[in-house]
Amino acid sequence: MIDELAVVCKGLRLGDLGKLATQVAFENEIQYLTDVLKLVASNREVQRIERLTRQAKFPVIKTFDGYKFHPITWPTGFDKEQLLSLDFIEKKKNIICLGAVGTGKTYLATALGVKACSKGKKVRFFRLSDLAAELTEKHRTGNLTKMLKQLQRLDLLILDEVGYIPCDKLSSQLLFNVISSSYEQQSLIVTSNLQFGRWNEMFGDDRLTAALIDRLVHRAYILSFTGPSLRYEEAMREKHLSG
Ligand SMILES: Nc1ncnc2c1ncn2[C@@H]1O[C@H](COP(=O)(O)OP(=O)(O)OP(=O)(O)O)[C@@H](O)[C@H]1O
Ligand SMILES: [Mg+2]
Repeated sequence: MIDELAVVCKGLRLGDLGKLATQVAFENEIQYLTDVLKLVASNREVQRIERLTRQAKFPVIKTFDGYKFHPITWPTGFDKEQLLSLDFIEKKKNIICLGAVGTGKTYLATALGVKACSKGKKVRFFRLSDLAAELTEKHRTGNLTKMLKQLQRLDLLILDEVGYIPCDKLSSQLLFNVISSSYEQQSLIVTSNLQFGRWNEMFGDDRLTAALIDRLVHRAYILSFTGPSLRYEEAMREKHLSG
């Protein structure tokens, strides 16, 4: 009987129903069917979130457990609650995290991305130098349009470590294209320890850099990170504990 159920479910593309049907208590027909279908729906939601999280390609999974907000100076009219509500994604606004090394910029960007996936959003995390390399490679092999379309389908694009490695002319132009086409269409989270005044060192071209910053900051909340490196403090604490 169970085998037959499995075959029918598979035919109806309800493979998981066959397995879940045995996990629900029976009181009456309607209650039983409702509870089985609810279980199927919640299982699918869990699988969808897992898939979105996998596809985002976070270097590590981070949550807000243990995250310290004290290095952040908030812009006027924007606070922690608003950030965590992820309303900026609905409004297609950007979050720009600027400031000192080891103060939690990448951690924040990742935890926001993971949270966005849990709300069903399509997210992709890139270190800027990796995105630049991938865009250049796709350009070289004639697959750039496909990649740009994939990027445009995202709700949230995270660009980590802007300013750590300078870009050549082609990758600067390709990155400019990505940022320009995201404008008012999707949200970006950008992290950098270079103040805007020095971004031309990164992109090499003053005019392109000015146009890029202009698009990025127009609909953005800029969070400023200050203070000593918590990465360093954590390493020292661990050394102390183990020593
Ligand atoms: N605000 C924070 N709250 C909790 N832990 C933190 C915080 N900031 C840094 N850490 C610890 O330091 C590590 C490094 O932080 P993170 O990579 O986010 O720094 P960053 O600001 O991106 O630095 P960088 O400019 O060097 O890229 C984290 O994985 C975490 O262990
Ligand atoms: Mg970082």
